[in-house]
Amino acid sequence: MGIVAGVVTESSPEERRVALVPSALTVFNKTGVQILMEAGAGAAAGFPDSEYTEKKVRLAADRAQIFAESDVVLQVRSLGANPEAGAADLALIRPGQVIIGFGEPLTAADAARALAGRQASFLAMELMPRITRAQSMDALSSMATIAGYKAVLIAADSLNRMFPMLMTAAGTIAPAKVLVIGAGVAGLQAIATARRLGAVVSGYDIRAAVKEQIESLGARFIILNVEGEAAEDKGGYAKAMSEDFYRRQREAMADVLAQNNVVITTAAVPGRKAPVLITRDMVARMTPGSVIVDIAAERGGNCELTRPGEVVEAGGVRIFGPLNLPSSIPYHASQMYAKNIATFLKYLLDKEGNLVLNRDDEVVRETLVTHQGEVVHPRVREMLGLPESQAVAQER
Ligand code: NAI
Repeated sequence: MGIVAGVVTESSPEERRVALVPSALTVFNKTGVQILMEAGAGAAAGFPDSEYTEKKVRLAADRAQIFAESDVVLQVRSLGANPEAGAADLALIRPGQVIIGFGEPLTAADAARALAGRQASFLAMELMPRITRAQSMDALSSMATIAGYKAVLIAADSLNRMFPMLMTAAGTIAPAKVLVIGAGVAGLQAIATARRLGAVVSGYDIRAAVKEQIESLGARFIILNVEGEAAEDKGGYAKAMSEDFYRRQREAMADVLAQNNVVITTAAVPGRKAPVLITRDMVARMTPGSVIVDIAAERGGNCELTRPGEVVEAGGVRIFGPLNLPSSIPYHASQMYAKNIATFLKYLLDKEGNLVLNRDDEVVRETLVTHQGEVVHPRVREMLGLPESQAVAQER
């Protein structure tokens, strides 16, 4: 008999995704994993109960049954990423229960403390290392792909121009000019999507390594000549730069912005507030009717004027700060997330189908936030002002 994995209905308001979709269940073939799902959990994403039951998923009458009978609970938004409604789950969690989901562990460290208090082992999807063997479990990348795509649709829908060049009997229509700032996963997808719609696209990133990727998508790579500090850490992520760097970057960027009709900003530094790259003055120099879609809004935004979840207008330029874009495309967002989380769960199983949290394994070590009543992740401990845990100290 294998383990029982429970899937709950997402309780966060406006969340339409679900942690498992029927097509992802094949990942569990021959593992003995049994799935118990809250009835209706997939409905908002477009997956009716019948599609699950056809694949031997058992339906639970309510949420409490899921927590009572599952060895591991799979979620999109666990407590830290669902602070209000998620708190109701705390009372249901059983000691030793494994919970996997997004939990914003580096910003919502208190949630980690609460989960540790319930003796849960919480694995945060955000902390999945971006290493080759973990690629198929990298949910942040999956969700960023969707966000990058949707950001361009928002821009195209609200711009006072069309994206493609058209030669018509009524004259030639010039293509829209789109600038994408930050060419990580979201940014590259935004570039690809804007290109498909026919815009003239350029991309900028402080990591020079992305030049080729931007160009291979048919976009121009913008060089601002403000480099001079190493922009990448050893993991290939962008580093936080000095205030002087950001100032020089903004000065050089102002001219480029003024030449574009659409600006999509995605610049992020892991675990930190998003860097402010576009100031009020820079927006004032843009042509009225231009649109900024700032998908870094969740982390404070790349534009000084961004208000998370709102649309701001300044001098005829509209600035969108959309939140939770993946939930606006719940079918495919769930499909991708489900593949990531199912692959992760399978990864945690031993040959007999038992769930084993082996902290010598980088993937487990990096994602495990709480275990056996303790917050174990070093960065989360640091945020909570806790001393280095004994296990880590002993490894030294
Ligand atoms: P990523 O880490 O793959 O890419 C971020 C990129 O920004 C990197 O290429 C980095 O080099 C670049 N960057 C950092 N500082 C920069 C600077 N000063 N100037 C130019 N580029 C800079 O991140 P990913 O996965 O593409 O996500 C991007 C953003 O999208 C994040 O802020 C993330 O939170 C957000 N996001 C938003 C969603 C929404 O619904 N609004 C959904 C998913 C992601």
